[in-house]
Amino acid sequence: MNKAMTADKLGVGVIGTHAWADKAHLPGYAAHERVNLVAVCDIDEGRARAAAAKFGAARVYTDAAAMIADPEVQMVDVCTPTHTHLPLSLAAIDAGKHVLSEKPLHTEASPAFDAAARADARGVRTKLGFTFRYSPAIRQLKTWIADGTLGEIYHIHGSAQNSQWLDPDFPLRQVAPGAPRDRLIPSSIIGYGSHLIDLMRWLGGEFASVASTMRNFIPERVVRGEPGRQKILIEDGAVAIVEYASGAQGLLQTSYIAVGNYPGVELRVYGSKGAAIARLISEFDVAETLHLARADAVEFRKVEIGADALPPGTTLATPWPELYYRNLVRHFVDEILEDRPQECTFFDGAKSQEIVDAIILAHRERRWVDVGA
Ligand SMILES: NC(=O)c1ccc[n+]([C@@H]2O[C@H](COP(=O)([O-])OP(=O)(O)OC[C@H]3O[C@@H](n4cnc5c(N)ncnc54)[C@H](O)[C@@H]3O)[C@@H](O)[C@H]2O)c1
Repeated sequence: MNKAMTADKLGVGVIGTHAWADKAHLPGYAAHERVNLVAVCDIDEGRARAAAAKFGAARVYTDAAAMIADPEVQMVDVCTPTHTHLPLSLAAIDAGKHVLSEKPLHTEASPAFDAAARADARGVRTKLGFTFRYSPAIRQLKTWIADGTLGEIYHIHGSAQNSQWLDPDFPLRQVAPGAPRDRLIPSSIIGYGSHLIDLMRWLGGEFASVASTMRNFIPERVVRGEPGRQKILIEDGAVAIVEYASGAQGLLQTSYIAVGNYPGVELRVYGSKGAAIARLISEFDVAETLHLARADAVEFRKVEIGADALPPGTTLATPWPELYYRNLVRHFVDEILEDRPQECTFFDGAKSQEIVDAIILAHRERRWVDVGA
């Protein structure tokens, strides 16, 4: 057993201290009384120092390997750009540290499955940053499915969409250098779809088979680091239909250009006894809403999300990145300290990636694709 499991507090070190760490990860550690924020690390020393001062980290590193080797760091948080997630996570695993990584762990499923197995072999825990699993409304949906409130599940409809890139002059961040300019670059299905697929799989079980269509709607855009508008066929809208292994049906939409606010995640679950809608869209200072209908009372009624479902010190007016990440961090730290069952691990990240790949292949080959085949 890792010595962390018997301790009152968990020693945490965070790698990457910029925008998302500042908005989501670091507030979570600062708010949890069972966290000892041992260190922060960034190759930009000024950023690391500012974050240490703001969130109360004891030490500052500019070299991730040195921070991972710090004996007081028991859990490593990787909040750096995508291409660094896997190597930094593997370094943490090999050093015997628990690790939380931002998604995706890797842009291919196979190295992500390998990392999950390596963590299991090393006896450390992993968590992937699937933010929306830690929405109170989504967790209530999961409970209603598990306790039979909704009955047998027939349909799950999910969307992850907002108008973040409706304006072609709002710079795209995550285009790989040298990406081809003459063919469709799967994008919303990766950026937004990986979250949504994880939620749909968590709620409905394994996907058996998928069919899909994807397209580019805005052919010229500004790409971060490049001058002016570029011709680039970013996939900014994707639709998939899903056959679950259970026999349930799924419908999935991701979009960068659908008018609406952040984060724009909505899940509708229809079962033999009831149906529920979780709407994670920040509107008028409310992060999310939840509605429930029953077979014998078919009008959807609003269900209040009580204070006991929210992380301590938050309300539904707390900005969603902080609200959900405070919950995510709390779950992971408590899972480790109390030796609770794992959830939302690197394995789940790899499964989500596998399904993204199947959806892309289904579009390219215009056919049904069995997941994992
Ligand atoms: N889960 C979510 O909902 C969600 C939302 C937003 C962003 N993200 C992800 O979070 C991650 C971070 O996002 P961001 O917007 O803060 O990125 P960013 O590029 O603005 O910041 C990353 C920071 O990491 C530092 N860094 C890079 N390589 C490093 C290394 N090897 N060692 C130490 N520091 C290093 C950089 O100097 C920078 O300060 C990305 O992977 C992004 O996709 C996830």
